[in-house]
Amino acid sequence: MAKDTANFTCSDCGATSTKWSGRCDACGAWNTITEDKPIATSHGSKSLTGRRGQQIVLTDLSTLDPEPPRTEAGVGELDRVLGGGLVKASALLLGGDPGIGKSTLLLQAAARFARNGLKVIYISGEESTSQVQMRARRLGLESSPVRLASETNLRDILTTMEAERPDLAIIDSIQTMFVDTVDSAPGSVSQVRASAHELTSFAKKQGIATIMVGHVTKEGAIAGPRVVEHMVDTVLYFEGERGHQFRILRAVKNRFGPSDEIGVFEMTGRGLAEVKNPSAHFLSERGAPTPGSVVFAGIEGTRPMLCEIQALVAPSPTSQPRRSVVGWDGGRLAMILAVLESRCGIAFAGLDVYLNVAGGLRITEPGADLAVAAALISAREDAALPADCAIFGEISLSGGLRPVVQTENRLKEAQKLGFSTAILPPMPKRAAAPDMTLRQVQDVAGFVNDIFGPRERKG
Ligand code: TYD
Ligand code: MG
Repeated sequence: MAKDTANFTCSDCGATSTKWSGRCDACGAWNTITEDKPIATSHGSKSLTGRRGQQIVLTDLSTLDPEPPRTEAGVGELDRVLGGGLVKASALLLGGDPGIGKSTLLLQAAARFARNGLKVIYISGEESTSQVQMRARRLGLESSPVRLASETNLRDILTTMEAERPDLAIIDSIQTMFVDTVDSAPGSVSQVRASAHELTSFAKKQGIATIMVGHVTKEGAIAGPRVVEHMVDTVLYFEGERGHQFRILRAVKNRFGPSDEIGVFEMTGRGLAEVKNPSAHFLSERGAPTPGSVVFAGIEGTRPMLCEIQALVAPSPTSQPRRSVVGWDGGRLAMILAVLESRCGIAFAGLDVYLNVAGGLRITEPGADLAVAAALISAREDAALPADCAIFGEISLSGGLRPVVQTENRLKEAQKLGFSTAILPPMPKRAAAPDMTLRQVQDVAGFVNDIFGPRERKG
């Protein structure tokens, strides 16, 4: 028989090791490592095969369960991200930075769902009931039939849920919840994991939909929502740049809908307002054409989204030039800079590079490559691109351009917003955009030549 190897887990950071120690090697916390006890069966044996269990019923692949019932909030931006409304008895995690607006969003959603016939309870572990009531008054929601409590003891919360039988329970936040059978502080990995597990399994049995808030923190990211993501049906992230009015609700996992949808909201004094035409909003602050500014025709989920990409290039005072990115991937920027240098002879050595996606949007699709390259070259050459031009396309390491998904949708949206020219990779077949000039480019070198004029290759 194989010898059982002992396993030890740190209750703070979740790191595992094969031996006990007083201090966790991974996070440095003291006295947090405990041995993981194997699950004992009723006759004391560690093995599950010793005693017979119950036979489970197997089914085939073709038998469909009926679609679970959904309730719409009546807020298009929220319902789309949920995949068409809130699913009965589903578990949902809403992650995001502290202060980004999660509680505001959920209080507004709670009021909407309550108005549409759901029995909703809102449990805050962070704020007192009077604080939540004050927020409700500020948002004009004080008369909506949402039941409210301030509590962190999960045992009491579950008992209350059993008695009240709500359709939806909102738990704000999972990091403040406390299970009294787990011997560590609220917010630690073991508490967060145990709370989320107890809550979701209880709620599923009772047919209650649950929404849990999870804070993402820079330093303690591991103790945050990550450990809960696999337990829930849907994971949404609420993101945005502080100081900007836009907030994006992004589905990163959804068992009941598409997982790449976003909803766009605007922060106002009276809470979050949905933004039905985000492209127009994201481009609204654009002035006269300036060097370094490019309009990217992107896709977020099923929806085309135009936004402005800005680059600034300046001589670096230090020997290690800065590469600063907001709203895009730093690694991807390094790749584009390398391709521009080695395939087009446009070097950025000795130059600080700043890249920014305007409006606080975060772009994840590789289709932004060409727009980023255009912004960088435009900033480097101090030459503005025409104002009526939208750009998209993925760049490969060879400097070639790859086609991207939903070309036609991107072109239509650009056309709708008054853009008359698009620069894009070669299209397999002509897309329907009759009133636009389509400049299809094969590779980055050709693009540079076409837009900024021919140049000498160095080296
Ligand atoms: P809050 O919802 O408390 O953030 P979180 O729950 O993610 O920590 O919002 C943070 C602050 O922002 C709060 O003081 C209210 C304010 N706020 C507005 O004034 N208008 C808005 O539209 C939103 C979303 C927030
Ligand atoms: Mg909050």
